[in-house]
Amino acid sequence: MPIHTNQISMKLFLSSILLSVSLSSIAQNTVVATGEIAFDQTASHAHSGIAIIPEPVTVTKQEGHFVLPENILIQAVKSNELKQSIAFLQERLGTPTGYFVSATAAASNSAQVRLVLNDKNDAVIGAEGYHLQVTPQQITITANKPAGIFYGVQTLIQLLPKEIESKEQVKDIKWQVPCVNITDYPRLGWRGLMFDVARHFFTKDEVKQYIDAMVRYKYNILHLHLTDDEGWRIEIKGYPKLTEVGAWNVKRVGSFGTFMPTKPEEPRNYGGFYTQEDLKELVAYAKARFVNIMPEVDVPGHSLATVASYPELSCTPDAVNYKVRSGERIMDWSRGAPPLALVDNTLCPANEKVYEFLDTVISQVAQIFPFEYIHMGGDEAPHNFWEKTPQIAALMKRENLKTMPQVQGYFERRVEKIVEKYGKKFMAWDEVLEGGVSSKAAVMSWRDMKYGIQAAKAKHEVVMSPTQFAYIDYMQADPITEPKVYASLRLSKSYEFDPVPEGVDPKYIKGGQANLWTEQIYNIRQAEYMTWPRGFAIAESVWSPKEKKNWKNFFARTEQHFERLDIAETKYAPSVYDPIFAVKRTADGKLLVTLSTEVEDLDIYYSFDNSFPDHFYPKYTEPLVVPIDANMLRVITYRGKKPIGRMMHMPIEEMNKRAPLKK
Ligand code: ACM
Repeated sequence: MPIHTNQISMKLFLSSILLSVSLSSIAQNTVVATGEIAFDQTASHAHSGIAIIPEPVTVTKQEGHFVLPENILIQAVKSNELKQSIAFLQERLGTPTGYFVSATAAASNSAQVRLVLNDKNDAVIGAEGYHLQVTPQQITITANKPAGIFYGVQTLIQLLPKEIESKEQVKDIKWQVPCVNITDYPRLGWRGLMFDVARHFFTKDEVKQYIDAMVRYKYNILHLHLTDDEGWRIEIKGYPKLTEVGAWNVKRVGSFGTFMPTKPEEPRNYGGFYTQEDLKELVAYAKARFVNIMPEVDVPGHSLATVASYPELSCTPDAVNYKVRSGERIMDWSRGAPPLALVDNTLCPANEKVYEFLDTVISQVAQIFPFEYIHMGGDEAPHNFWEKTPQIAALMKRENLKTMPQVQGYFERRVEKIVEKYGKKFMAWDEVLEGGVSSKAAVMSWRDMKYGIQAAKAKHEVVMSPTQFAYIDYMQADPITEPKVYASLRLSKSYEFDPVPEGVDPKYIKGGQANLWTEQIYNIRQAEYMTWPRGFAIAESVWSPKEKKNWKNFFARTEQHFERLDIAETKYAPSVYDPIFAVKRTADGKLLVTLSTEVEDLDIYYSFDNSFPDHFYPKYTEPLVVPIDANMLRVITYRGKKPIGRMMHMPIEEMNKRAPLKK
């Protein structure tokens, strides 16, 4: 080959590599200059303009920008199939810019935004993937299905300046999009968030607000936990007491699980429920955003609200005195799981009325929720009341059941049949594996990945939502700053979530989800605080290619999304900036504090003198020996001269408790 051709092809080759540097290199803070194009990939503090969560499969940046005109025309030839994406774009582009956004189904050369449904299937992108091409003249999103177009639209919004998140018009912004070619599709089909609306009730509008936030990050399942000891939230025709009695408790604040017993004179007016029409409205709202709602009716445990409404569904005669739980202690966890119940919060597997009840409930739930699965709970059902119930003993004899898990297995198999009778698939928490369910039962693995692995090996469909990565009710940092919950899950740990474990056939792993239990969450702002940014980490774990996951790169993008959420007025936790405290004793008994951060480029300043540290104070460089009479360590993180973290107040007494002096 003549030498000049070689040089040209090498140059083309090099520039194509440089052009297609993926965003994974953001964290390396490289400035790439090709001669033809120069762009700064330093996304962590500067604004490269591209910070997409979840990270797409490929992003190839091009030279130049597309600038939104004041009259934006969207062309979607198959406009009927794409009406959700058109409406979404009209609202999301129109409101903050104040520009006029119209749509046409006619082929038009003047349209600046083209939404194109493929006539011929593109096997690379599948049912939810898309291609997004931005040139200085036009934006084109191509997909096989409307869902793919919708996800392309989400990415497009993230390419616009952060003010696009505003709910009001913002003036003096250059509304431009960097030129780019993106090909993107999800790693997994089940990308879920579970929202517990039973422990605390959240209104229909609050659930919509939650859906609005999740769709930005390409989640497609909202698992609604609709029933629990603290409330029954679904109107069921024929069982009015479920919502007259079961939806209401006494409002208490403090440390959930330790509240004083309620008194008869205290009003039971805290709670609420959704009518069937409300739920249908939510289903339609979610569907318009490509989210399926999966209902959960949690039985046979977690059923105190049901039993308080209909005591005849319990095996325990004393159930006539039970009340919907307001956060009092009802379980003894001192010997670990399963807990010992102090009141019988279960439905009775030996009572035919229970199956009649569940038949009615499931038939109506199946009508309301078109999604193919119904989740029937099955977790943490205490068996200690069953052990002393003659009806259960008779059932065991009749059915030749030897153990209490087998009694629960009998119950689960009957419930599974009812679910199937109404044309739905049965899903339940991983405890149901213990008593034996049919291999058709889908399993949601929560206690550990290992139950999901066991289930997948037994050919069950599995959704992974293990506590150690995906329990977003856990504290996000040290309990001295976070509302207290019994365990912690930092952002960097949730980012390690890999829903597809080694050694199982991946075809059984439907996907993953994060679970937001709300025992300690009283309002939607706190629900948001707990969900974000860990919801970013889980979204990336279920959407992005495994090999593209990179913590530093992810965190750089997360910081840009904090700014977006600020403008969207969605709350998030800044806990990732809180230092991690590790305390131990020196050989001579002094307290030694080691501080570290999840984020690399932060400085920690501290004080022991009861004043508030800033960047003129001592900077943490090595473990600190606590001075003899000190009573408080205060710390704050900075980036350069900018305070980034919250002021943390760590009492020395608390550290003494964490590293007790050996006597
Ligand atoms: C659960 O967290 N009890 C499923």
